[in-house]
Amino acid sequence: MKLLVTGGCGFIGSHVIDALILDGHEVINLDALTYAADPANNAAVAGSPRYRFVHGNICDAALVADLVNEVDVVVNFAAETHVDRSLHDPVPFVRTDVEGVAVLLEAVRRRPGLRLVHMSTDEVFGSLPPGVEADVNRPFAPASPYAASKAAAELLIAAYRHTYGLPITVIRACNLYGPRQHPEKFIPLFITQALRREPMPLYGDGLQEREWLYIDDFVDAFRRVLAAPDGGPLVVHVASGERLPNRRIAELICGLTGAPLSLIHPVADRPGHDRRYALDASTARALGWAPKVPLEEGLARTVEWYRVHGRSRLEREEYRRWFVAQYAERLGAGKGGESG
Ligand code: TYD
Repeated sequence: MKLLVTGGCGFIGSHVIDALILDGHEVINLDALTYAADPANNAAVAGSPRYRFVHGNICDAALVADLVNEVDVVVNFAAETHVDRSLHDPVPFVRTDVEGVAVLLEAVRRRPGLRLVHMSTDEVFGSLPPGVEADVNRPFAPASPYAASKAAAELLIAAYRHTYGLPITVIRACNLYGPRQHPEKFIPLFITQALRREPMPLYGDGLQEREWLYIDDFVDAFRRVLAAPDGGPLVVHVASGERLPNRRIAELICGLTGAPLSLIHPVADRPGHDRRYALDASTARALGWAPKVPLEEGLARTVEWYRVHGRSRLEREEYRRWFVAQYAERLGAGKGGESG
């Protein structure tokens, strides 16, 4: 089939495109090349005659309307995704994650038969009490501007499904990790800091719990969603069940990189920090899916990737500015000193 994948120069989108090209599909990658994108992420497919890159924004209605005419399926990974950035500057999140989705929905509505697969997140449910897993029908309770923008997009999608009967699949995933993730995120940040023997800024008490899934396992679930008969389920939860406090992840990273535990550096907490996420992944399992890469193995693979590739990203000017704005004062307030 022929697919329009948005945000295909990012972490998740680029891994999915690699798989789609491998599976024999044709892919148009529409990406705005914001700070989080890296065209190097598409190196494996760039030479394929079945791959085409288009530089553009999902908010560009004319461009999107043009591109959807060429494809059978639209897959939306284009998004602002970093919670901390959404606390500093929420409006770009509303623009891309809500308005961008509205533009995609309009384009899909005008092309009957076109299928949309949209990437969402466990964060739409907000923080969950201990022992609770969110099933696909749990009410939303987003707590950050990022989560609120993703929840808003989902409400819009639900309305389009209901009103126009559009075939839209939403995938909500737990925290994904692996090669190519932007170093602003927790695991790649801690790995790159550990490899450089620089302080790892752990928010608050470090006992916040996240559920972690290796990117290859996500791609496997995505393939099954795409292949599901009759468009598959409306909402699929893709999650590993591997739920750990952040401090434990930091300790594992120290173990894998040989960094001393003393580099784990408690800093002021993220405002409004969600304590715990957990998804009931029975919808993905019903597609025959099960995660295959245990956390320690996935982390080891990720460490190896950043050992080789991490440096070039850290050296980018934009990232250095972010690191200083986000961490210099917090780390300086403790024992850590200069970093980044
Ligand atoms: P993150 O990768 O930003 O994902 P999300 O907030 O969307 O789950 O953060 C994962 C967890 O790690 C989250 O509980 C916040 C924490 N964290 C830190 O302790 N220090 C950091 O420097 C970052 C970026 C995150």
